[in-house]
Amino acid sequence: MSAHKVTVATLAALKARNEKAVFVTAYDYPTATFADRAGVDMLLVGDSAAMTMLGLPNTLGIGLPEMLVFARAVTRAARRAFVVGDLPFLSYQPSDETAIRSAGAFVAAGCDAVKCEGGARVAPRVRAMVDAGIAVMGHLGLTPQSLGQLGGYRVQGKSLAAAERLVRDAESLERAGVFSILLEAVPAESTAFVRERTGVLVYGIGAGPHLDGQLVISHDILGNFVGDISPRFVKRYAEVGAEIERAFRQYAGEVRAGAFPGPEHCYCIPPEDEAQIRKAREGRLGRVEAAV
Ligand code: KIV
Repeated sequence: MSAHKVTVATLAALKARNEKAVFVTAYDYPTATFADRAGVDMLLVGDSAAMTMLGLPNTLGIGLPEMLVFARAVTRAARRAFVVGDLPFLSYQPSDETAIRSAGAFVAAGCDAVKCEGGARVAPRVRAMVDAGIAVMGHLGLTPQSLGQLGGYRVQGKSLAAAERLVRDAESLERAGVFSILLEAVPAESTAFVRERTGVLVYGIGAGPHLDGQLVISHDILGNFVGDISPRFVKRYAEVGAEIERAFRQYAGEVRAGAFPGPEHCYCIPPEDEAQIRKAREGRLGRVEAAV
């Protein structure tokens, strides 16, 4: 693994060597730092921040200003990883100009690329952003910004007809100039079908193994997502949430019992200074007692 900053060319070279790109979401400076140090190739500042970081019920309630705060924290941390900023709901759909301005704001925040949801129907917006010089990743399959139309978090591309629709959308995005496509919640066979029919890099989350790289939501693998959604494709690599709660319980118990802070957590001064201060305190106490 090279120490150089990952670019679109690096990602293409990984594919050419038949090596998988490692892709996780990050929304804050510490998580992005740890992922970057661990050699993760790509970081997605996902609009899943609405749920993972802000406790919202879905991704529709997060706007561009909040996303840019997360994006700046992540790009500050990413020395090597390629950072993708996720265009939130209504930050690209209304017009080409809206799309270019929103994508440009992510680039100004230090992102290497942006991602937007949808196929043929967003292809004109993709073209506009690409023509403005911005690298764009498409997102097909389960697209959470269309939750109302999809009728919930449902697996997509389950039949040949549905897989063919995914292929047509992938072709539209490729023609519009995306450098890659992310497939979410798609059966492995349909994923392979799409990947074989497109020339761009194809990544996936819950889309099986036949891909150029895998994305996971960091909270899902670290065990610090607060909520009820637990997709089948998630593998847990840590129990960070349980460990945080345990630490807070222990801290609370020690504060209440007077066990924290101990002498080792207090600042020391020379004994003579300490004695002078104590004497002054005693004198003051003496005056207070005399006044009562
Ligand atoms: O916002 C996000 O994290 C995403 C992934 C779930 C694909 O878009």
